[in-house]
Amino acid sequence: MDEDLDKRRFKAIVQDVVDLASTPNLGDFFPFLGVIDLQGLNRKLKDLSKVFDEFLERIIDEHVEYHDRDQTKDFVDTMMDIMQSGEAEFQFDRRHIKAILLDMLLAAMDTTASTVEWILTELLRHLQVMKKLQNELQEVVGLERMVEESDLENLNYLIMVVNEGLRLHLAVPLFFHEAMEHCVVNDSTYRRDPES
Ligand code: HEM
Repeated sequence: MDEDLDKRRFKAIVQDVVDLASTPNLGDFFPFLGVIDLQGLNRKLKDLSKVFDEFLERIIDEHVEYHDRDQTKDFVDTMMDIMQSGEAEFQFDRRHIKAILLDMLLAAMDTTASTVEWILTELLRHLQVMKKLQNELQEVVGLERMVEESDLENLNYLIMVVNEGLRLHLAVPLFFHEAMEHCVVNDSTYRRDPES
C-alpha cells in the first residue's frame, strides 16, 4: 500500500475520487445499467476505497502506537479518546474514525487547493491588488516569518481578497438540503416536505 501511495501520490488519489464523484453515473438514471456498471465507476471506486482504507488504518495504527506519549493531541487522538471512553451516544469505533477522516480529507484538500490557485490567478491578473496585498503582509507580518492565524485580525485586505476569490470562483456549489423527518436544531424547526 505504501508503494501504491508513494507511486501515485496521495493527492492524485484524492483527485481520482473527486473526478469519480463528479462523473454522472448512468446507473443513477437507468437503474438496470447500475448492475452492469457500464462506465466501470463502481469498480474504480472499490479499488480506491481499498487504498484509502489501508491508508487510514495506518494513520490510526500510528496514533495507537504513540497515543500515550506526552505530546499535543491532534484530531485523530481526540477521536480515539472518544472511542476508548465508550461515552459516545452510539457505538463509535475505527470505522467511524476512518469515515470522519476521509470526509475531512476529501472536503478539505481539493477545495482549498483550487481556491488558492484561483486567488493567485486573479492576483496575477490584477497586479495593483497583488501589490497592495504584499504591502499589507510586509507591514503586518514582515519578511522574517510565516503568517500566523493570530495575524488575521490585522490582515483586513487579505480577508477581502480571499472573500472576493471565493465569490468569483466558489469551489463547491451550494447544495440543497432536505429534512427526511421533522426536527428542531437550535430552536429552528425543519419540516419534512409532505410531497417527498
Ligand atoms: C475554500 C475551501 C472550502 C470551500 C469552498 C468549502 C465548501 C464547502 C461546501 C459548499 C460544503 C457543503 C455545505 C453543504 O452541505 O451545503 C462543504 C462541506 C464540508 N466541508 Fe468544506 N469547504 C472548504 C474547505 C474545507 C476545509 C479546509 C475543511 C476541513 C478542514 C472542510 C470540511 C468540510 C466538511 C467536513 C464538510 C461536510 C461534508 C459532508 O457533508 O460530508 N471544508 N464545504
